[in-house]
Amino acid sequence: MAGALVFEPAALQAAVAAVIAGFGSGPAECDEVARNLVEANLTGHDSHGVGMVPRYVEGFLEGGLTPNARVRVEVDTGPLLRLDGQAGFGQVIGREAMAMGIERARAHGVCAVALGNAHHLGRIGAWAEQAVAAGLVSMHFVNVVARPIVAPHGGADARFGTNPFTAGVPLRGRPPMILDFATSMIAQGKTRVAHNKGEPVPEGCLIDDQGRPTTDPRWSVIEPPGAILPFGLHKGYGMAVLCELLGGALAGGQAGHREQGSRRRVLNGMLSVLIDPRALGDPDRFESEALDFAAWVTASPPREGFGPVQIAGDPERALRERRQREGIPVDPETWRQILEGGERLGVPAEAVSRLGRPAAA
Ligand SMILES: NC(=O)c1ccc[n+]([C@@H]2O[C@H](COP(=O)([O-])OP(=O)(O)OC[C@H]3O[C@@H](n4cnc5c(N)ncnc54)[C@H](O)[C@@H]3O)[C@@H](O)[C@H]2O)c1
Repeated sequence: MAGALVFEPAALQAAVAAVIAGFGSGPAECDEVARNLVEANLTGHDSHGVGMVPRYVEGFLEGGLTPNARVRVEVDTGPLLRLDGQAGFGQVIGREAMAMGIERARAHGVCAVALGNAHHLGRIGAWAEQAVAAGLVSMHFVNVVARPIVAPHGGADARFGTNPFTAGVPLRGRPPMILDFATSMIAQGKTRVAHNKGEPVPEGCLIDDQGRPTTDPRWSVIEPPGAILPFGLHKGYGMAVLCELLGGALAGGQAGHREQGSRRRVLNGMLSVLIDPRALGDPDRFESEALDFAAWVTASPPREGFGPVQIAGDPERALRERRQREGIPVDPETWRQILEGGERLGVPAEAVSRLGRPAAA
């Protein structure tokens, strides 16, 4: 990233935790939120990393984000949970919801967790990683309750969010599969990162407010809005609708058909299905078949212009290793917005900068 500031991960985490303290969060929440955001940067998903802090500040100042909130249980049949996130920090609510789901899946073999009204759940892959670390398979369908930003296939304006789909599969003998993507051509945060850096987005991702193709990220960042296109034509569009129906209408009780106006908070609904492979009776067979398939598919010889074939989750692990070593790049505009966000909460910019100790790349 040309002209970026580079942060040592622990220092960046300490700086962001200091800003989160300005929300009135307790020390554990400050650490949890900052750790989760820095982890998103480590895995290369800068769109869901520390650059989200200014947006969280705006959501909080509007009254749309509730610090120190806990999950409220609304339905509990054992293997089926319905939870209300009470507009709490998604980084905390998500972890708590998944911990409850993991416990139930271990007891019953399966658990469906319907979580509504969580503030931004960040990188959804974090929740699949939590399930996989407990030896579980997981699937997550997520909707985004905010101003719409993605157009339906063939539509000329935005009608829903970037609705991510995520799955985690433990693979004994190799790192897990963590498939984690927005159902839009590009995650909205990636258009924000491009806008902050003054760079265009790739062709075929965006339309302007007249429905015309454009590569200018301003159409997803500032008024008047255009729209991001769904990935994979009608197929990705179908997945986005599924995320809205399952994560939104079914799990969260809130799908994106209401006017959200200019509100800055971001709520997520998430339907998570957790399965314990051991409860299906033949875990050895699952493990050996899955591992053999992973070896088979990654043995495909690379085509010209490509590196070795990978399994989803591999690129994030490689980047995490590199950024742990070399530091996390943050563009100066994003860092300025983080400091400004802290100031709006009464956290002096000098104190945050001192903790972060950014160095020019
Ligand atoms: N909370 C929210 O409201 C929200 C909304 C949208 C997106 N998100 C998050 O945004 C993040 C970024 O999403 P995105 O759509 O930009 O992701 P992306 O386009 O970078 O795709 C990432 C996925 O593709 C896999 N992948 C990448 N290169 C690969 C390769 N060569 N071979 C095999 N697999 C490969 C990755 O391992 C990962 O599973 C995700 O973490 C998502 O959860 C969150």
